[in-house]
Amino acid sequence: MHNFGTLFLWVLASCNLWVGSLAEDLQTGSILPQGVEAKLEDQHQQAQAKLEDQHQTLQTNLGVYQAKLNESLLAVQTRLETQFQAALSKVENQLQAMSNKMDELERAVKVRVPDLVGNTIPHGFEQIGTRYFHVANERVDWATARIRCYEMGGFLATFQNEDEFSTITAKLPRWQGYWLGINRDTNGHFVSVASHKPVQFLKWHKADPNDENHLINCALLHQGEMWDHNCSTRWNFICQAGNET
Ligand SMILES: *[C@@H]1O[C@H](CO)[C@@H](O)[C@H](O)[C@H]1NC(C)=O
Ligand SMILES: *[C@@H]1O[C@H](CO)[C@@H](O)[C@H](O)[C@H]1NC(C)=O
Repeated sequence: MHNFGTLFLWVLASCNLWVGSLAEDLQTGSILPQGVEAKLEDQHQQAQAKLEDQHQTLQTNLGVYQAKLNESLLAVQTRLETQFQAALSKVENQLQAMSNKMDELERAVKVRVPDLVGNTIPHGFEQIGTRYFHVANERVDWATARIRCYEMGGFLATFQNEDEFSTITAKLPRWQGYWLGINRDTNGHFVSVASHKPVQFLKWHKADPNDENHLINCALLHQGEMWDHNCSTRWNFICQAGNET
């Protein structure tokens, strides 16, 4: 009983001592042995360094990714710009082509209109009455005059009627002579060299035609009348547009 009481007291005292020491330890901030604490501190620092290291690595990687992202963005931008430029120049080329084509069409129209007109009205021919004529002041024989009219796109002239004849002769000096497209054929008939038909309108000088031998076969307009004349002589001439007469 005595021993038990002693033990109890000892245990109680020991507990008090330990609690006191614990309180003291809490006050000084250290509940661990010296060595353990230093080791923990060391590990803590290592962990922190490691974290900082990883943070640094992450940041470096982030920089690399950003640079790569910038690079690909730049590449995309460049590609888009290139495609845009290509599309733009394609459109510009198409516009230019269209513009060229329109110029071409415009020129073609400009060229074609006089050409169409030229099919019936050769250059330098003027309207006299209802038809177009050209009075050539160039003295040549009858055969040459006929060729000259062809070259101009017409024919040596004949007349449809008195009206046309007098309208033209009123414009000509009376003393001049002009070859007409009237020629005697092998049957002795005067035909139009343009239409190869009998001449529609004739107004012979009172004595003409007077060549019984049919050696003088060309018609000359002189002083408002027609004369049969030597085809080799040289006179001015009149051309007509079209060969209907
Ligand atoms: C990425 O581009 C942005 C904006 O253009 C710029 O501010 C940044 O510095 C660039 N980053 C890198 C890593 O090149
Ligand atoms: C026509 O004139 C030419 C040249 O002046 C002449 O040689 C020819 O004999 C004439 N013909 C006639 C039928 O008079």
